[in-house]
Amino acid sequence: MKFFVDTAEIVDIRELAATGLVDGVTTNPSLVAKTGRDFFAVLRDICAVVEGPVSAEVAATEHDGMVREGRRLAEVAGNIVVKVPLTWDGLKACRTLAQAGIMVNVTLCFSPNQALFAAKAGAKFVSPFVGRLDDVSQDGMALIRDIRLIFDNYAALTTEILVASIRHPLHVVEAARIGADACTVPPAVMRRLANHPLTDNGLEAFLTDWQKTGQTIAGA
Ligand code: E4P
Repeated sequence: MKFFVDTAEIVDIRELAATGLVDGVTTNPSLVAKTGRDFFAVLRDICAVVEGPVSAEVAATEHDGMVREGRRLAEVAGNIVVKVPLTWDGLKACRTLAQAGIMVNVTLCFSPNQALFAAKAGAKFVSPFVGRLDDVSQDGMALIRDIRLIFDNYAALTTEILVASIRHPLHVVEAARIGADACTVPPAVMRRLANHPLTDNGLEAFLTDWQKTGQTIAGA
């Protein structure tokens, strides 16, 4: 499963990318607003650090505007993925941009039918928002299971399921169990994924015992 970082903060992206475990980045207008920076400068910074897909969302809401903005965003770097909302205009813009060879991430997906349409419109990624469904007492992960099942029924549907709106490590475990193609994870959650208290305790005990041997491994 691919790991994307869900942020527009370049400091976090640099730190996490240095682990070699980051396959891409997703941004959205809210995340860009939080940085207080120029959108295009943010995108250039991210693309200088991350080789994989970097999602950048349009702000227009009708087809022509989305396509115009999408083309501009795609000019920033070859790894930009244009993000469009899952509306009728968004689906049409997805089709237009995909036919022009631009990768598209159809975002704000909350139902299996929406995902099916995104795939038919030629999306490279579809982003179902699990956390926001959980927030309104609907099972976010059930949506991922449905989309996986549907896409697996049709070999022609090659759109990748990019699990979004992840709030905690269990969302990531579940996404991997289901076989989602990618998860986009906020930096704070990403940092928690490798942690376990038994790892820390175990390491402390090993190092204490090792000191008792009086040996070194690396040499002088
Ligand atoms: C996905 O691409 C979105 O940027 C993001 O996952 C939304 O997450 P939120 O529901 O926590 O805002």
